[in-house]
Amino acid sequence: MYSEKVMDHFQNPRNVGEILDADGVGEVGNAKCGDIMKMYLKIENGVIEDVKFKTFGCGSAIASSSMATELIKGKTIEEAMQLTNRAVAEALDGLPPVKMHCSVLAEQAIKSALLDYSKKNNVHIEGLDDVN
Ligand code: FES
Ligand code: FES
Repeated sequence: MYSEKVMDHFQNPRNVGEILDADGVGEVGNAKCGDIMKMYLKIENGVIEDVKFKTFGCGSAIASSSMATELIKGKTIEEAMQLTNRAVAEALDGLPPVKMHCSVLAEQAIKSALLDYSKKNNVHIEGLDDVN
């Protein structure tokens, strides 16, 4: 049912934890299943220097957050904004259809953390006005 990559990122999640002096923090939840995902970003000169997450949720949500942090680490804000939940699921070699919403949480958590960053630093991030 689950790909090897999903199992790997579930059993050995990358970038777990929190960043105390984060530049942006985002928290999203899924009303349906009650899962919660928190994302911390350290941003310097428009680049995501560090990212950590804490997910209280299912294995697919943990694997999705782990993969999402890997995909945006070292990338620019613009590149991180392009990350879709489909790209996260594809990087994991797919998720079962009923688990696709878990990857949506990862995309939303990143955007929510970027929104927090943009508000705190008064910077405009293209495409964020439509979120939240
Ligand atoms: Fe917790 Fe299914 S909602 S195991
Ligand atoms: Fe809800 Fe995975 S079952 S995030």
